[in-house]
Amino acid sequence: MSCRSGPAVNAQLDHVDPALGDTTAATQTVRLVVLASGNGSNLQALIDACGRQISGDVVLVVSDQPDAKALRRAERAGIAHQVIAKLPGESRRDVDQRLADRVAAADPDWIILAGWMRLLSSTFLDRFADHVVNLHPALPGEYPGLHSIERAYADAVAGRRDYTGLMVHLVPDEAIDDGPVLAMTEVPIFPDDTLEQLADRMHLAEHDLLVRTVAQLPPVSRVTPVADHPAAVPFSPGRTDQAAHP
Ligand code: GRF
Repeated sequence: MSCRSGPAVNAQLDHVDPALGDTTAATQTVRLVVLASGNGSNLQALIDACGRQISGDVVLVVSDQPDAKALRRAERAGIAHQVIAKLPGESRRDVDQRLADRVAAADPDWIILAGWMRLLSSTFLDRFADHVVNLHPALPGEYPGLHSIERAYADAVAGRRDYTGLMVHLVPDEAIDDGPVLAMTEVPIFPDDTLEQLADRMHLAEHDLLVRTVAQLPPVSRVTPVADHPAAVPFSPGRTDQAAHP
């Protein structure tokens, strides 16, 4: 699957598109709505970065899973949070309409899918065109859908590859884990890795890349298309603080 070109937000701060780094953006803050279905360690990374690397706030967290730990993280941080799940007999479009209404009421600049496991329909996506950002634990065009880390690990064990990676991308339509790439990074798979070790390394890389990418998003959509993806940025496992977002 080919990936489309995207706004020039690069994971390396010295490669930021000049349009994203102007002083107008730097003096304003972004309002983030985060959708999360599970543990919420990426949500936690964003919460911890707000007011520091990220000039902005998480103003609402929505989960489709009533038991999601992400909701407890939001509660602990004093952030508005809500469960919006499909009701018996409700259509996908109707639940997405309810979700869109609640998200719109929070007046977000950006909607971040951080471990959000339910596919969003165009009913939702069209409402927030060019403002929905997804984190995918694989490189562009690779392992779309579920169990991306497990599938990369299986390929490595079979001798077919020695790296995987992740990307942060815009979600323009219903295509799965595909869209204009904002940032990406490679993650090595070492010969003696267990799946758990690889997963831990991936989660560290996710927290790092997601925060650095969101930190570069402007308060309003002023992104500039570029001809190609930014080059993949090698992930250095020593660069992030593992204990911060367990
Ligand atoms: C992450 O690996 C994300 O890329 C994937 O689901 C996981 C969510 O982790 N889509 P968390 O809930 O943020 O801890």
